[in-house]
Amino acid sequence: MATIGNDIGIAKQLLTAGELVAIPTETVYGLAANAMNGSAITKIFLTKNRPAFDPLIVHVASLEQARSVTREWPSAAEVLAKKFWPGPLTLVLPKIERVPDLVTSGLDTVGVRCPNHPLTLSLLRSLDFPLAAPSANPFGYVSPTTADHVQKQLGDQLPYILDGGPCEVGLESTIVGFEQNKVIVYRLGGLDLETIEDVVGPVSTQTTSSSNPKAPGQLSSHYAPGKQVFMGVLDEVLTTYPPEKVGVLAFSHPVGRVPSLNQIILSPGGRVEEAAQHLFGALRQFDQMDVSVIWAEAVPNQGIGRAINDRLRRASHH
Ligand code: TXA
Ligand code: MG
Repeated sequence: MATIGNDIGIAKQLLTAGELVAIPTETVYGLAANAMNGSAITKIFLTKNRPAFDPLIVHVASLEQARSVTREWPSAAEVLAKKFWPGPLTLVLPKIERVPDLVTSGLDTVGVRCPNHPLTLSLLRSLDFPLAAPSANPFGYVSPTTADHVQKQLGDQLPYILDGGPCEVGLESTIVGFEQNKVIVYRLGGLDLETIEDVVGPVSTQTTSSSNPKAPGQLSSHYAPGKQVFMGVLDEVLTTYPPEKVGVLAFSHPVGRVPSLNQIILSPGGRVEEAAQHLFGALRQFDQMDVSVIWAEAVPNQGIGRAINDRLRRASHH
C-alpha cells in the first residue's frame, strides 16, 4: 500500500527520482510524474492501464512555466490563463520539441494547466520540472476525489499519495483548444461555459467524438463506475429490476418507488456546485452497495451542472 501523507519533501524526492506520486488538485487527484522524463511517463501509462493514444495534461506552477513548454499563445489563451489560473482550466497549445511524444501521444500540442491546490502548488514551485498527471484512476473508471479513492485502486502500485483532503470542485478541468483563432471546448469541466464566454465571447463545443478523439475524455463510454448506469425514465428501469436492486443518484430530493436506503442525494440544498463535489464519491459508493444497477437523475443544465450531466451520460453509455 502507498504511504499517505502531506510531506511535500517526500513527494519532491520521489518525483525527482522518476517515481510516481498521487497529487491533490481542486478538480480530482492526479497520478503525477516528471513530464520531461520518458521512463517516468511510461510508468503512468502502465499503472493506469491507459492506452498510448490518450495524451496527458502537464501541470505547471505558473504562466511562465507554461510558456516554457509551449510555442504559441493565441491572445485568447493568454487572457484565459491570466483570468482563471490557478484553476480548473486546461489549455491545449503547440508544444516545444522537448516535451516527450509519450506525454502528448505524438500530437504537436500539449495540454497545460496550473492547478489550484496549495499543497500541489508548493510542490510544483519546489520542482524544476512540470508534472504530467492524468486522473489517478484505472483507465475508464471514475476519477478519484479523495486520497482514499486513490489508495483503494492504485495504492499497491504507488509509493506515496500526497493527501490534500477532498477535492473542492470534484470534476475534471475544462479543456479548451484554439483552432483558426476560435476557442473550442473539448471537455466540459470545472470551469463552466458561461464563465469562459463572459471573458472571450461565444465558444464552440466539440465534446463528442468517436474512435480517435482529440481528447479521449470525449470517448462516449468513460468515467464509468463498476455498475451499469441508466438515465432517462426510472419506470423503464423498474420494469427490468426490482426497486430494492436499483440505486438512485438523485439531485436534491429522493424519488418515489425506490427504498430511501438505496438513494444518494447529491445536493440537498439543490446546488450544482455541491452536486459536483459529491458526484464521483457517490458513484463509487454504489459499487459497495447491494444494488444491481444505478439510475441517475439529470441535474439542472446550467453552470457546472452541464459537466455533471456530461459525465453521467458517459457513465451511462453501455
Ligand atoms: O482536472 C483534470 O484535468 C485532472 C487533474 C489531475 O488535473 N486531469 C485529468 O487528466 O482529468 P486525464 O488524463 O484523466 O484527462 C485529460 C484529458 C484527456 O482526455 C486527454 O486526451 C486530454 O486531456 N488532452 C491532453 N492533452 C491533449 C492535447 N494535446 N490535445 C487534446 N486533448 C488533450
Ligand atoms: Mg481521466
